[in-house]
Formats: sequence, structure tokens, C-alpha cells
Amino acid sequence: MNICVIGTGYVGLVTGSVFADLGNEVICVDNNVEKIAMLNRGDMPIYEPGLEEMIARNVEDQRLSFTTDTEEAVSHSDIVFICVGTPPKENGESDLTYVEQAAKTIARALNRYKVVVNKSTVPVGTGELVRDIILTNRRRDVDFDVVSNPEFLREGSAINDTLYPDRIVIGAPNQAVAMKILELYAPLEHPMLITDVASAEMIKYASNAFLATKISFINSIANICEQAGADVIQVMKGMGYDHRIGAAFLQAGLGYGGSCFPKDSLALIHTAERFGYDFQLLKQVVAVNEQQTMLFMNRLKEKLNGFQDKVIGVLGLAFKPNTDDMREAKSLDVIRIVIQGGGTVKAYDPIAIENTRHQFPDIFYGRNAYEAAEGTDALIIVTEWNEFKQLNLERLKKVMRGNVIFDGRNIYDPIRLQRLGFDYTGIGRSPHAFNSK
Ligand code: UGA
Repeated sequence: MNICVIGTGYVGLVTGSVFADLGNEVICVDNNVEKIAMLNRGDMPIYEPGLEEMIARNVEDQRLSFTTDTEEAVSHSDIVFICVGTPPKENGESDLTYVEQAAKTIARALNRYKVVVNKSTVPVGTGELVRDIILTNRRRDVDFDVVSNPEFLREGSAINDTLYPDRIVIGAPNQAVAMKILELYAPLEHPMLITDVASAEMIKYASNAFLATKISFINSIANICEQAGADVIQVMKGMGYDHRIGAAFLQAGLGYGGSCFPKDSLALIHTAERFGYDFQLLKQVVAVNEQQTMLFMNRLKEKLNGFQDKVIGVLGLAFKPNTDDMREAKSLDVIRIVIQGGGTVKAYDPIAIENTRHQFPDIFYGRNAYEAAEGTDALIIVTEWNEFKQLNLERLKKVMRGNVIFDGRNIYDPIRLQRLGFDYTGIGRSPHAFNSK
């Protein structure tokens, strides 16, 4: 099938590459000239494991190409995916400017029947909006359908998530168009759910909001565990064995970041308000998430008698492992709090240093964890990169000035760290719990 993908962010690039890999002819478009030039040179605008190889393979086989000419790409295609960003406005509402622009361009290029598939995360009713924009702006009396096909991939495991999704949701206005998109996904052989457009749009937000709720819930439990002498790791395991609950997304920590959960939770609260419903539960999920890093940093501040003249090592900068994405990364709050308190930061991340430098050009960046730890009074684990789990802790202890470790992702065994002479604090971990991870 001839496919056009508008937008070359995480969702667009991965979707386009996977469809090409399945044998379709795919044109990815973006109005960012620099990005398209990079992709045409074989350089990646984002870090995503496996993506570079997949793109190279499909470009070489001439199934995948990149252009800035959206109208041309749309006119050559039978199916057009909208994968543009929907950033938050000041009030939390989704900014649909890029979706609207894409719809207008599609309208201008409409030369034969096309299915327009919305993959961007958009509030309920956007399918209707896209339909109206195309109807108003089309130059020829050509038919089209608008489908909602939300994306559930995670950064860092995007290709795997796309190839092996838990489900594929197709929100279509009629059965015939649903079958067309279903056919496209058929080689993946995974459960597919056909719904109306509005329900598909809601499934996306409800899923992200529910996962965010799980995280804020376990973080709240962790905060109680700390006071009650219980260990959240064991509590989480005990809960997770119950199939009705499940262990996924119950890792207590500094809270959720990234480009999706924070933005989508606020957008759903806003959508609910638009329909006259006060989504109090989700408001509390957001509040818990916002407080979590602050509570953790207050404990560290207390332990160190303030940050003034203290040197703090920060291990992990990206909002989660296997990405260089710094959007809503908890490391930004951590660094800001230390600097505002009069302390000095020494940081390290395997791949996100360059992206952090834009925001904090003056802090010290180590070439590895040991260099970042050198001379520090305390170390904070912010992102659970695998390489931090395997650190030589004896060596770490030797290079540090102090012995305080604040583990914001619970990657270490408290008992082992105490034995090694560290003053260890995790999240929701009792120093008395005899059985650790
Ligand atoms: C999330 C969803 O998981 C995807 O299904 C969805 O497609 C995507 O948003 C999106 O809407 O585009 P992503 O933001 O890439 O994916 O990353 P996640 O792996 O979900 O992690 C989000 C945040 O939650 C991270 O900051 C992570 O550290 C945190 N988290 C996750 C926890 O604090 N605890 C957990 O148990 C799991």
C-alpha cells in the first residue's frame, strides 16, 4: 500500500519505518527542512534503539523515503497518517495547530479517495474536526474517511512495542474503512479492536491516565511505607501477583515524566471540564506526581543540613532509560533544587548530556558515573540506566567525599549498601526490611 506519514517525531518515524518494513511504500514528511536533510543523510534526529538500522534497510530497498513536500507525498498515497505533535497550551488543553495544518494540506492534495488516519494523541472530537477541515478546504469533490488509530508505543522500546503491541485500536466511521486499516496491520497478528472514532480517541487518554494513576498510587503507598517501616518493593510484588492488578507500572520512584503522561493527564482533565465533569481523581494523580520529587529532595536537604556548598552527583538525566529525551525529566527539578539551595551539581547520563547542556550549560558533566561521583557529598540516582545497576560500589565510595546515596529509582539493595558503608535512602524502602529486592 502507498502510505504517507506526516510528522517525523517518535510516532511518525517508528510507524513509517515499521510499515515500510512490512513491505509498504512509505513517504515520511516533515516541514522541518533540517530534520528531513538529516534523515536523507542517514542521521537520526532522535535516539531510539534499532531505528537507525530499520530506516537504513528500508531506504536502501526503496520502500522508505523522506521529503518536505507534504502535498506531493499525500497525493501519491492511499492512506495518510497524521503523526504531528499536540503540545500542551498554558491551561493544559492540547494545542491542535499542527493537526489542523496537516488536515488543510491533506485537503489541498486530495486527488483520489484516501483514508486519513489520526495517530497523534488528540482529544475526543478531533476526528470530527479533521473531517470538517478537509471538507471545507478540499479543492476537488473527492471522498475520504477519517480514522482514529491511537499509538501506544513507549520511547526506548518503540520498535518492539509497534511490532508486538498488546492491542491495535481502530476507530472508524464504518466497517469498510476499518477493514482497510486492519489489513495494513494484519501481518502483526495481534488483537485488534474496532470502535467508533470518539471511543478510540478516548482509549488513548484513558490508558495513559490510568498508567499515570498506577504510578501516583504506588508512590503514595511508598510515602506511607517510609513512615510505617514497610518496604514498597515487597508491597508492589505482593500486589502485582494479583492478575487483576498486575505488576507493570507499579515501580515507585521520583514520579512520571516524559512527553506523554504529564501532558495527557492535564489534557484529559481539561477535556472532562469541557464536558462539565470535574475529574478530581486525575487532578490528585497530577498533584502527587508534582510533589514526589520535592518530598525526596526535602529529605536529602535535611540529611545534608541544606545544599549550601554541598557537591551533589546526579546519575541519570533522561526522563527514563534508553532515551535521550529530557521532556519533563525529573533530573531537571533535582538539578534546579540543588542549585537554588547553593549546591554544586556533577552529572552523568549515558546519552542525554548534550540535551541537558542546553538547559544547564554551567554544571559539570562527567564522562562516566565515577567521574560525576568524584568529590560529591551525596549521589542521587534519577534514571535507572542498566549501567548504574552494575556499578562498582566500592570504587564509587572511594571517589566520593561523603557516603550518602539517594536512590530515586530503587535500583540498589539497601542492606548491601549499608554493609558497604553508604548512608542509603530509597523510595518507600524501610531500613528495617530484612528481605530486599
Ligand atoms: C507512555 C506510554 O507508556 C505509552 O503506551 C504511550 O504510547 C506513550 O506514553 C505516548 O502516549 O506516546 P513513554 O512516555 O514513552 O510512554 O514512557 P513510559 O515507559 O510509559 O514511562 C513514562 C514515565 O513513567 C517515565 O518517567 C517512567 O520513569 C515513569 N514510570 C513508569 C514510573 O515512575 N514507574 C513505573 O512503574 C513505570
